[in-house]
Amino acid sequence: MTLSAKHLEELRERRAKLLVAGGEDKIQQRHAKGLLTARERLIALFQPDTFQEIGGHVRHSGQHFGMADKDLPGDAVICGTGYIDGCPVAALSQDFMIAAGTLGKMHAQKIVQMMQLAVKTGMPVVAFKDSGGARIQEGVDALSGYGEVFYHNVLLSGVVPQIAIIAGPCAGGAAYSPALMDFVIMTKTNAYMFVTGPEVIKAVTGRSISMEELGSAAVHAALSGSVHFVADDDRHAIQIVHTLLGYLPANNTEDPPHRPNPDISLSRDESMATLIPDDPVEPMDVRPIIQRLVDQGQFLEVHASWAGNIIVGFARIEGVVVGLIANQPMVMAGALSIDASDKTARFIRFCNAFNIPLVTLVDVPGFMPGVKEEHSGVIRHGAKMLYTYASATVPKITLIMRRAYGGAYLAMCAQEMGADAVYAWPGAEIAVMGADGAVNILYRREIKEAADPKAKAAELAALYRQEFASPYLSAARGYITDVIEPAETRFTLALVLRKVLTKRELRPAKKHGDMPL
Ligand code: HXC
Repeated sequence: MTLSAKHLEELRERRAKLLVAGGEDKIQQRHAKGLLTARERLIALFQPDTFQEIGGHVRHSGQHFGMADKDLPGDAVICGTGYIDGCPVAALSQDFMIAAGTLGKMHAQKIVQMMQLAVKTGMPVVAFKDSGGARIQEGVDALSGYGEVFYHNVLLSGVVPQIAIIAGPCAGGAAYSPALMDFVIMTKTNAYMFVTGPEVIKAVTGRSISMEELGSAAVHAALSGSVHFVADDDRHAIQIVHTLLGYLPANNTEDPPHRPNPDISLSRDESMATLIPDDPVEPMDVRPIIQRLVDQGQFLEVHASWAGNIIVGFARIEGVVVGLIANQPMVMAGALSIDASDKTARFIRFCNAFNIPLVTLVDVPGFMPGVKEEHSGVIRHGAKMLYTYASATVPKITLIMRRAYGGAYLAMCAQEMGADAVYAWPGAEIAVMGADGAVNILYRREIKEAADPKAKAAELAALYRQEFASPYLSAARGYITDVIEPAETRFTLALVLRKVLTKRELRPAKKHGDMPL
């Protein structure tokens, strides 16, 4: 055999071993559970034959406690780049079949090198997380590795989109890197995320809890808000990544993938008015309204299971990519709660960082009243809405559909928060507070002394809506760009969005503001 043939043979053998790293038995076991391997996840993520691995031959140093005789192919993580929809994307996939995908120094170094390439070239990052956390044998080297990954997550934040897929157990440090990324997708089965697991909780607090109850996708999507999307399985998670990337620019220097149709449709949508209840106190479902506003009814809802009193997500309106934010009066009457404020503020910041215009649909009775909300910091959390809307410099368009009361009027991107255009439907109510509350304060005696107090209160509330809360009052003061018919909404928003896409706004120079966190 010639020397070069020997070299080729060795390379091919090494590559073949990498392809079945973890061993055939473990691969079969994963397949039996309906799971893809770490490598299969990357192959499924990218367009065929576009994946190029980085650092496949990396191994741990062998110097750590009990590690000398352990061979961990790739140090339990596969990194590289590939194409999705014709665009380059960087990705990593932790390999649970090898030492539970735990993170050691070299594992972290591979991830960091991939992230450095992503930030230099402006590529989004996708990370499949499936890991037992810090590799115990590597001690402080493992902690240092996590530190470097976290540092780079923060360095990349706002430069390239970062998407995590929790596709297996993610314990300890493994949970914090996703928390620093922009979007977290989690699979319904096989995936758990927690900082301290059931055994530690039992030892410290005495409480028994299963992994499922502690940190499943359902728990994180609905209770903790740590997960943005729940996927049925690995392949569904990958579909969500593809859909999400379809709305995002590759990096912060690019525009999102707008696809404006040159023949803008100016047709009226008479059915819009039928979605508004006649009775002003009957809650209005905002979902069918969103459906009618966005192209082909396609709306990628973010955080769909958390803080349902507000809806946020991505869509296109006549081809223009938007971040859409809408009160949902069917849940908690659409009031702004602590969780709703956190959810929205984060979404606004993401859209602003990646040049995505904001469209805000308003039907809000106010901030959530209650002792628990007040004591839990509704002031501090609610202030995030004001802060993030006011600091966002992307195009901001607001539609006041029905109620816009008090501080929540401002917190839903009123003109004073820098909205570029504010439209209102003719039945909108814009005032310091809702009609019922206001007349009870202003006309308490008259109502009490009336022959029929209930009828008197209703009569005064109707008068209040007309006299104090009419959108024409706001329009007369210059706070509303125009009052429009519901049937005109879609083309009004579509037209104005195109006109404000070129918006440029200069702000005073500063290191950064002091956002209420
Ligand atoms: C080293 C680990 C490990 C770890 C698992 N293994 N976790 N090795 N460090 N953190 C090893 C096991 O010893 C086993 O080795 C193999 O991986 C598979 O693990 P199993 O327990 O058999 O698998 P499974 O039953 O599927 O359970 C998976 C698991 C569990 C849920 C992840 O292993 C677990 O709870 N591990 C500990 C998780 C944890 O507490 N991590 C936090 C680390 S501290 P063999 O040789 O038998 O196959 C941390 C702090 C970082 O991360 C702080 C940064 C801010």
